[in-house]
Amino acid sequence: MSKPLKIAINTGGGDAPGLNAVIEAVVMSAYNRQWEVYGIRNGYAGLLDTDEIVHLTPEKVRHISCQGGTILGTTNKGNPFHLPVTNAAGEVEFRDVSNRVVENFKRLRFDCLIAVGGDGSLKIAYDFFLKGIPVIGVPKTIDNDLTATEITFGFDTAVGIATEALDRLHSTAASHERVMVVEVMGRTAGWIALNSGLSGAADVILIPEIPFDLEKVCDHIMGGELHGQHYAIVVVAEGAVPAGGRVICKGEGEAGRQEVVLGGIGEYVAAEISKRTGKDTRSLVLGHLQRGGSPTTFDRRLALRFGASAVRMIEAGNFGMMVALVPPEIRPVPLEQVIGRVKHVPLEGDTIRTARDIGISFGD
Ligand code: F6P
Repeated sequence: MSKPLKIAINTGGGDAPGLNAVIEAVVMSAYNRQWEVYGIRNGYAGLLDTDEIVHLTPEKVRHISCQGGTILGTTNKGNPFHLPVTNAAGEVEFRDVSNRVVENFKRLRFDCLIAVGGDGSLKIAYDFFLKGIPVIGVPKTIDNDLTATEITFGFDTAVGIATEALDRLHSTAASHERVMVVEVMGRTAGWIALNSGLSGAADVILIPEIPFDLEKVCDHIMGGELHGQHYAIVVVAEGAVPAGGRVICKGEGEAGRQEVVLGGIGEYVAAEISKRTGKDTRSLVLGHLQRGGSPTTFDRRLALRFGASAVRMIEAGNFGMMVALVPPEIRPVPLEQVIGRVKHVPLEGDTIRTARDIGISFGD
């Protein structure tokens, strides 16, 4: 009989509903093979300071698939290849401490690391694979912008939450004859905006893939007035840009963070609509509400399937690979084919065409 394996698992980057379902599936699939699973806290931090590594037994993960967040904690600023450290002078400098991670991984006699994360975390996982750690990646992001997989868990939940918010805004917008501008997440991809905007009967959807013209947005809104609709719902992806303009950021964010913090486009669009149409306009940012709470059944099932597949991939020796949904199957794809790429909304895709057919404007 082959020796029982000792698997490490971590979750990195922004949380997404479904992370706990992956953990549950990994632990149970491993347990049923007489393997052991250990949880690494806060991305790779738990492999630098190994005191808090936790043995994940079936009791610890029982039915956590219904819970949002991650029982392991996560971070989007702990890249061990570029770790921010405050020096004696109080300045932040960046150090490569990846060798310490590799040493601890070997010292603790782990056989494999399951890294659950988005593009940034999967890139780190791949870099550790190149340094000799047997890695399996599990894709995670509410943004649904990872290539090679049809969909990521967390996305369906985020779209559901945004759609419910839009449903609620219709009645208050109608009562006050207002324009409501709703900013949603998604980084440089418009998946959340497009799908929630379509499901929630938005009048205008602004996505990064289609630079928008504010005059056209306003014309569309005022066109509604002619047909007796005195209110409008506008969904704006946080990464949407006016034609010839630039993406709006809140700043660089915390030290060590790989990406800038997007945000502010909703307020800008609302101010312009108000100025140009004279209509009473309000804006709101859905923000982290889109990431909180229980995953939908779709996300739970996808995450459970990803987790169990990751364990099967260990059995098959598919290291340096990521589990991906290639309907109807879950398949291994090389991590290097995924990292550093963005899956954008296809402009000629059926969803955009459906939205256009039913009269939704993209401001183009
Ligand atoms: O990638 C997921 C995401 O929620 C993006 O949609 C958003 O831009 C970003 O993370 C927000 O990050 P943070 O949680 O660090 O504010």
